[in-house]
Amino acid sequence: MCGIVGYIGHREAYPILITGLKRQEYRGYDSTGVALINQEGLTVYKKQGKVAELEEALLGKNLSTNIGIGHTRWATHGEPSDVNAHPHLSASGKLAMIHNGIIENYAQLKKELLNKGYQFKSETDTEVLVNFIEEIKTNEDCPLEEALRIALKRVSGAYVILLLDSEQPDTIVAARKGSPLVIGIGKGEHFLGSDATPMLEYTKEVVYVNDYEIAIVKADELVLKNLGNEKQTPYISNLDLELAAIEKGGYDHFMLKEIHEQPATIFDCLRGRLDAQKGTITMKGVQDNIDTLVKANRYIIIACGTSWHAALLAEYVIEELCRIPVEVEYASEFRYRNPIIREGDVIIAVSQSGETADTLVAIEKAKEQGALIFGIVNVVGSSISRASHAGAYTHAGPEIGVASTKAFTAQLAVLLMMALKIANEKGTIDKSRYARLLVELAEAPEKVEAILKNAEELKVMGQKYKDSVNALYLGRGYNFPIALEGALKLKEISYIHAEGYPAAEMKHGPIALVDNQLPVIFVATKDDYHAKIVSNIQEIKARKGIVIAIISEGDDIIPTMANDVFVIPPADEIVAPLLSVIPLQLLSYYIGVARGCDVDKPRNLAKSVTVE
Ligand code: F6R
Repeated sequence: MCGIVGYIGHREAYPILITGLKRQEYRGYDSTGVALINQEGLTVYKKQGKVAELEEALLGKNLSTNIGIGHTRWATHGEPSDVNAHPHLSASGKLAMIHNGIIENYAQLKKELLNKGYQFKSETDTEVLVNFIEEIKTNEDCPLEEALRIALKRVSGAYVILLLDSEQPDTIVAARKGSPLVIGIGKGEHFLGSDATPMLEYTKEVVYVNDYEIAIVKADELVLKNLGNEKQTPYISNLDLELAAIEKGGYDHFMLKEIHEQPATIFDCLRGRLDAQKGTITMKGVQDNIDTLVKANRYIIIACGTSWHAALLAEYVIEELCRIPVEVEYASEFRYRNPIIREGDVIIAVSQSGETADTLVAIEKAKEQGALIFGIVNVVGSSISRASHAGAYTHAGPEIGVASTKAFTAQLAVLLMMALKIANEKGTIDKSRYARLLVELAEAPEKVEAILKNAEELKVMGQKYKDSVNALYLGRGYNFPIALEGALKLKEISYIHAEGYPAAEMKHGPIALVDNQLPVIFVATKDDYHAKIVSNIQEIKARKGIVIAIISEGDDIIPTMANDVFVIPPADEIVAPLLSVIPLQLLSYYIGVARGCDVDKPRNLAKSVTVE
């Protein structure tokens, strides 16, 4: 949450900051600001609203300089407003700071500063910290880097901090704990970002700063130190990301582009791993730990949001194929309830960003208790991937739309491959089912392609149902997590209240909501429960509910009952969720667009939730 950018070098800093902030708006977009040092000294420009609004407001100003920092905010302490926007200046006006994260003991620090006569303009924890640093700098008469080091020893919480000091106009000082910080290395220049997108066209060499490290960044020098003031050797990684991957490529929205990328992203995820002809699945992270995974007493899968839905589907699949008990945990709940982790437990963390604070802390906690941590992550080099003992990347490429789409199907693909590989090693799947499921999985990209060709049908449905006030999503078995995911997509993109339920559970409460205004979306592909879900549809019809059903080709029963159907290619019930989620993503997208919503940046959300 919150995007941070910094530049120091020989180019104009401001355009780099603005472009970088626009690319990182997925991390938050309720206010924006930059701090620049030039002949006029240290100046902060900030404003409530998106990056483009700040850019517009600054037209005509002298912003020329080679050093600056910028921030796009997702509010934690204090409402979105001009005054709460970052950067924050210290009382003397000599320090400017941006921050991503939460300073948990800020109230205590604030009290100390108030007692010393400090006054605060904003409600943020950031303004407290910048003043706390200044107080130390003045009292100890030390350089900024040293004051920051001393301050951070008193700070609890998560942060990435970037600081400018008007008395040190050739340096950006940065620090990280718990939130991501990437530094791009150029020739006589350095770039800083929450991710690598601000630096893509300038360098492919990046350093992922570690927790508890301070970076002293000059145009031609990068020094990393730990909090003990010892120099650390920066580990330079090569960036495998092209500019085209973060552009809209002709689509109206990133979300639509990412939905349409799924044949390719699922294919990329399977490529080099699944060989249906040879009947093999090659996953190094799984192979390296195969004994532990096969002999595990229990898997605990930890995730949040959409990734939690992928985890829930994995529970159904792993229990069925591998006969290993699985518990699926909301990371935020797991971490605080003193979870029981026994010998033989394996922790699987699922996360698109690899930066979700709750998931990250939950796995750290499980790690302390000796469990093997297996990370299923999309963003290469992210914190969760680095905190895991082993793992598998989902290779979906950058997901910019705030609502997760292609990352979800890639997570499903990885989890299915993992389940199949472990089941095969363990001997809990019969050979012919294993071989058939490999073929089915390999065919998924083609089938997704076929679904996308009928997207227009969902656009029409989107128009028809755009004025709904509520919606209910129902599914049984493997389709239940997909019903949950469909409901989440609709509410976040269109602001229509939606709930997902196991189709049969609907009788125990939600059925009271059903009337002739309520669309009930059934995920009703052909599986073992088909006859049962047909009965559930009848129950909704009997109460005059509007039935929309996602069905398999060849189903001639449900079309006779439903108000609208969308047909998907036939697939084994274990692979079908990879297909049935696609029309639900598209339906949410089209309803959101028809309602005039900002589908790529829904209100109040941020893509990378780096606060608890
Ligand atoms: C919903 C969505 C969120 C994320 C959740 C976890 O569309 O994107 O629910 O799935 O915030 O994020 P990651 O997967 O990055 O840990």
